[in-house]
Amino acid sequence: MTYSDQLRRLCVDIARQAGDFAYQSRLELGPGARAAHSTKSSAVDPVTEFDRATEALIVERLRFERPDDSILGEEGSSYQGESDLTWHIDPIDGTVNFVYDFPLWSTSVGVVRNGVPVAGAIHVPVVGDMYSAAIDSGAYVNDQPISVSTADDAATSLVSTGFSYHVGDERQSQADRVARVLPSVRDIRRSGSAAVDLAAVASGRVDAYFEPHINSWDIAAGVVLVREAGGVVTSFNGTDLDVNAPIGLVAAGPALHRSIVKLASD
Ligand code: IPD
Ligand code: CA
Repeated sequence: MTYSDQLRRLCVDIARQAGDFAYQSRLELGPGARAAHSTKSSAVDPVTEFDRATEALIVERLRFERPDDSILGEEGSSYQGESDLTWHIDPIDGTVNFVYDFPLWSTSVGVVRNGVPVAGAIHVPVVGDMYSAAIDSGAYVNDQPISVSTADDAATSLVSTGFSYHVGDERQSQADRVARVLPSVRDIRRSGSAAVDLAAVASGRVDAYFEPHINSWDIAAGVVLVREAGGVVTSFNGTDLDVNAPIGLVAAGPALHRSIVKLASD
């Protein structure tokens, strides 16, 4: 097994353990029962005890398995290691969906070297999907190879997007952008989890995804997944993406990517 494959296997193993733990907690709350939460960056940005407990589980596992690597987690975990690898982890990506028991939330575990994601896994426990990829090792869902769609015409493309939790003017500009893009595409999806959106691009389940503001832990696993599935990922304005400081993101198949950058950023 190559080093890349070993990293991918570890991503899968950790995403499975953590996603199963969060899912068990969600099941215990009962169908549709709201999970108790407090708020983070704004009144619409929730965090639950399950986000924190799941992140703690991932960090404990990583500190044991990869003691020399750095760690950055959505819920505040930050560890500086000696190696050139950093793990970017989102214990529950799609916390609003988790709170409402809407099924599209995921556990995302990605590992990055010099701003470039090298391996990752995205576990969508309610759906039962495990996506994984590593550089030069391909992209998979539940161990079956996946590839991005061959779509080349924006007008007949299914495009997903996401909205950051900034309120006020930012929300208005999100709405303006959607109003501008919608008439030029087949339809728009908003899953509520950036990691699920990227997994959907990688597997051809949507043709493209764009989001103007995003964090490294939302995308580290998804970026390697889309690239290994044959897709193109750039920052929001089409320039090279630095996962450590992402300026938004556009992901699509090679024949479509440029038109989506143009449509979304105009
Ligand atoms: C959010 C989700 C959402 C995206 C937001 C993210 P969280 O992450 O990925 O789809 O639109 O930008 O912040 O807070 O649910 O982990
Ligand atoms: Ca997230």
